[in-house]
Amino acid sequence: MICVEPARLSDVAAIHELVTFWADRGDMLHRSPGEIFEAIRDFKVARVEGKLVGCGSLRIMGTDLAEVRSLAVREDAQIRGIGAAIVAACIEDAKQFGLDRVFALTYKPGFFEKQGFRIANVMEFPQKVWGECVRCPFFTNCKEVAVVLDLREGADLGPARVAGP
Ligand SMILES: CC(C)(COP(=O)(O)OP(=O)(O)OC[C@H]1O[C@@H](n2cnc3c(N)ncnc32)[C@H](O)[C@@H]1OP(=O)(O)O)[C@@H](O)C(=O)NCCC(=O)NCCS
Repeated sequence: MICVEPARLSDVAAIHELVTFWADRGDMLHRSPGEIFEAIRDFKVARVEGKLVGCGSLRIMGTDLAEVRSLAVREDAQIRGIGAAIVAACIEDAKQFGLDRVFALTYKPGFFEKQGFRIANVMEFPQKVWGECVRCPFFTNCKEVAVVLDLREGADLGPARVAGP
């Protein structure tokens, strides 16, 4: 039985271990224990029989936008719907907060497309690009793909709009 719930401070070490496992393999960015600790209220965790098997966070980036980040599922727990359940919990939170859009930068755009996201132009999220990406060592050689889910009722899910910084 999979249970997705808000993370607790006691989850910081397990979240850090899981994110580090995938970050060391180049699948996601590293997060320090301090970063996870500070953002713990953004995190959801998935547990199976009480054991942490997945995590993900929803970071509010502005009045209408949030980012799904640090999404990871243990290697031995994949393809059982856990990643999808964590993303669904993040989307539910975003709706509760009244956000219009949820985006992610990812090396796994196919996974997000299955959750209803569409491929976007990263410049749709200037607050991310100029607020954070610009400080990333991979900024000029970024291979991550932007994906977005529009939560507004009747939203036009057409091609990406390009917005200047
Ligand atoms: C990406 C990741 C979170 C997916 O989690 P998961 O629990 O294995 O995925 P789920 O079982 O919830 O998959 C949901 C659907 O997406 C599909 N899917 C899973 N990984 C996929 C991928 N890499 N590409 C395309 N589709 C994928 C599944 O087949 C499933 O499809 P279905 O709905 O047709 O059955 C997991 O593979 C992971 O932790 N990867 C390493 C870290 C990482 O890459 N994180 C993402 C960084 S943003």
